[in-house]
Amino acid sequence: MRIRSGGHDYEGLSYTADVPFVMLDLVNMRSIDINVENQTAWVQGGALLGELYYTISQKTDTLYFPAGMCPSVGVSGFLSGGGYGNLLRKYGTGADNVLDARFMDVNGNILDRESMGEDLFWAIRGGGASSFGIVLAWKLRLVPVPERVTLFIVSVTLEQGATDIFHKYQYVLPNFDRDLQMRVQINSEYIGNTTNKTIRILFHGIYQGNADTLLPLLNQSFPELNVTREICQEVRMVQSTLQFGGFSISAHVEVLANRSAIPKTNFKSKSDYVRTPIPKSGLIKIWEKMFENDMSEMLQMYTFGGKMEEYSDTATPYPHRAGVLYQVYKLVNLIDQPSDTTTISLKRIAWLRSFDETLESYVSSNPREAYLNYNDLDLGVGSGSYEEASVWGERYWKRENFKKLIRVKSIVDPGNFFRHPQSIPSFSDM
Ligand SMILES: Cc1cc2nc3c(=O)[nH]c(=O)nc-3n(C[C@H](O)[C@H](O)[C@H](O)COP(=O)(O)OP(=O)(O)OC[C@H]3O[C@@H](n4cnc5c(N)ncnc54)[C@H](O)[C@@H]3O)c2cc1C
Ligand SMILES: *[C@@H]1O[C@H](CO)[C@@H](O)[C@H](O)[C@H]1NC(C)=O
Ligand SMILES: *[C@@H]1O[C@H](CO)[C@@H](O)[C@H](O)[C@H]1NC(C)=O
Ligand SMILES: *[C@@H]1O[C@H](CO)[C@@H](O)[C@H](O)[C@H]1NC(C)=O
Ligand SMILES: *[C@@H]1O[C@H](CO)[C@@H](O)[C@H](O)[C@H]1NC(C)=O
Ligand SMILES: *[C@@H]1O[C@H](CO)[C@@H](O)[C@H](O)[C@H]1NC(C)=O
Ligand SMILES: *[C@@H]1O[C@H](CO)[C@@H](O)[C@H](O)[C@H]1NC(C)=O
Repeated sequence: MRIRSGGHDYEGLSYTADVPFVMLDLVNMRSIDINVENQTAWVQGGALLGELYYTISQKTDTLYFPAGMCPSVGVSGFLSGGGYGNLLRKYGTGADNVLDARFMDVNGNILDRESMGEDLFWAIRGGGASSFGIVLAWKLRLVPVPERVTLFIVSVTLEQGATDIFHKYQYVLPNFDRDLQMRVQINSEYIGNTTNKTIRILFHGIYQGNADTLLPLLNQSFPELNVTREICQEVRMVQSTLQFGGFSISAHVEVLANRSAIPKTNFKSKSDYVRTPIPKSGLIKIWEKMFENDMSEMLQMYTFGGKMEEYSDTATPYPHRAGVLYQVYKLVNLIDQPSDTTTISLKRIAWLRSFDETLESYVSSNPREAYLNYNDLDLGVGSGSYEEASVWGERYWKRENFKKLIRVKSIVDPGNFFRHPQSIPSFSDM
């Protein structure tokens, strides 16, 4: 059986299988009920993040939910893997802001937080709900946001000092005021119309406050970024979602809830977490490796720190917390290819795998951490024993959480009805 909400699973595990299967598609279960007075929302399992943002924006500009940027991501896949976004440094992951759930277990019982118990409620907020049962709805805590947030984008190439600026970013941003979030995108490109390449780095900032407050803070700790009033825009929080989602800030907010307005993409990706700043010599090695590819690659760094420092790694199954400077997401685009098995696609995917080796000495180790919501079957699929499953399981959850997830699984679904290639295995002796 396969369970699909937004259908964004990176390995297609919500809608494909090697054997005939039944798919439970929650596409028609997407009502959203916002309670402004009590700052909560009940959201059905098949709703998308864009529908949630749109519905909140119809009631208030000063509440939001700390979730991701892409409006077509499903709330259920997002929350059940942890879920990061522009309010991560201030309010933690999406899963940290789940208050209750309606959940169907393998026997068809419909449970809430109280009747499912704290261990199962813990497991479905980061452990991947599809190993345990079906989430019918989530109760969310909405968080306060100011009437206006400040956006800016700074774009620099190697010739403009990008290496030094990124090097400094690693020291400054994870320790910066938690009202500021920054997404950093890195890609290679030709210089002008020559065939010489450079690296372009895009710093995309969002500040929970106005430019008057932000500018002196940045001028003091990060003047190299050169953020000026001219490049700052003060907008409603929902408009920031439009910009981070690839729309214009002046687009109609309805577009966030329009399933056919969001372009399709096709890519292969991998994740990492950085806990020690990468030295300049390492950054130069990384740029050189990128120059070997055909410019289909993209790196995206998401800044951690702030509120994330306050949780223990076992508070939820999502363990990438204190000490993480930023998350690295790297992909090769296959959008111009008819399939992921063309010669060009295979070459790009092979490059991505070798890029992973280049990065190995600069990212977290023991385990080399990976994000469940960027699931990657290259990490392994064995689950015959704990040793086999730990190869990939400890990368997503670390040892203590992975063992607890296996214990919960063995109680709530001992027959392993809910399974896929990287689902939590059931062992009786954990
Ligand atoms: C363009 C894009 C942008 C993204 N941006 C972000 C981001 O900013 N932050 C972030 O954290 N992640 C981001 N992601 C990753 C995203 O969080 C994951 O892909 C997530 O798993 C997608 O959830 P879904 O419901 O759309 O996917 P689905 O494919 O429907 O589901 C994913 C997994 O959850 C299970 N599942 C789905 N619904 C249920 C349910 N009701 N009950 C039980 N199990 C269920 C599925 O079986 C599957 O295992 C992005 C992904 C894409 C494609
Ligand atoms: C908010 O919560 C209080 C206390 O639980 C309750 O009495 C009240 O009816 C709730 N308000 C709404 C609009 O649901
Ligand atoms: C780009 O190349 C064309 C010819 O190939 C040349 O005429 C033009 O001046 C170049 N432009 C720049 C900005 O270098
Ligand atoms: C391209 O790079 C080479 C080697 O670094 C250099 O000699 C040449 O001047 C560069 N050409 C341009 C147009 O920048
Ligand atoms: C940044 O601070 C310096 C002094 O510390 C000041 O001279 C400069 O005008 C400031 N720039 C901006 C943009 O605020
Ligand atoms: C900073 O911005 C100003 C005005 O936009 C520009 O003139 C200057 O060259 C920039 N400096 C750097 C280092 O990018
Ligand atoms: C949704 O988006 C599609 C594609 O851009 C557009 O054709 C359609 O009119 C939109 N629907 C609504 C209700 O806005």
